[in-house]
Amino acid sequence: MGDAPTLSERADELEHRQMQEFGERIVGKSLLYNLADGDRTLGQNAFGGRMLMGEDSRLPPMPEKPTLQDFFRCRFDDFATAHLLQSANLAQKNGLSDKMVLGCLLHDVAVAGFIRTDHGYWGAQMVEPYVDEEVSWAIRAHQALRFFPDESVGYAYPDNYRRMFGDDYRPEPYVVAAYEEARRHKWYMSARIICVNDLYSFDPDVHVELEQFDDVIGREFRQPPEGLGNDNTPASHVWRTLRWPCNAL
Ligand SMILES: [Fe+2]
Ligand SMILES: [Fe+2]
Repeated sequence: MGDAPTLSERADELEHRQMQEFGERIVGKSLLYNLADGDRTLGQNAFGGRMLMGEDSRLPPMPEKPTLQDFFRCRFDDFATAHLLQSANLAQKNGLSDKMVLGCLLHDVAVAGFIRTDHGYWGAQMVEPYVDEEVSWAIRAHQALRFFPDESVGYAYPDNYRRMFGDDYRPEPYVVAAYEEARRHKWYMSARIICVNDLYSFDPDVHVELEQFDDVIGREFRQPPEGLGNDNTPASHVWRTLRWPCNAL
């Protein structure tokens, strides 16, 4: 072992490096980032020194009045974005309505741009103030429907779920309950269609550009003129958090 730095030496070094990068400002991490590493604390220096607030120079700068597309380009994960674009492309090719194309484009907006756990619920909440009610309902419901087949539309339990979760995985009771409720809902098929277009949208050879959906977004997504996050809806804070993910408070 000998000269290997101790944990606290490594933390000091990291803090020093971060302060250099941020002009003497410390990056405050939310508990969730640390929980993801199995650490149930806010980390060292969580309340010490001058903390980062506002723009984070490690991330692409965003315009003063960001649009949905700006978040796609400056914040979202590339792989997950490619999946969303493919899914919307498929919906368009299948002749679905603008509303459903947008639903497919945004169905995993939470995975691509915010948080994976309970992604259907988070994603629906992110877009709810800006889209038709049917779109956000379908995004929320796809989370549960993904786990249950529907042979009437040729939707089987996804093979990749077997690979990802194992053969013995069973959805939590709240997912089963959400499925049963969605099954009886008037918009059931909208959420189901998202699942169908979801399933076939992991092809590494298919490349789709975001610009293809500018018109659909223009017609179906109510971009706030003051910028997404600068507005005052029940979801604005989520977009702001994404823009400034390490604000100390
Ligand atoms: Fe999903
Ligand atoms: Fe998906």
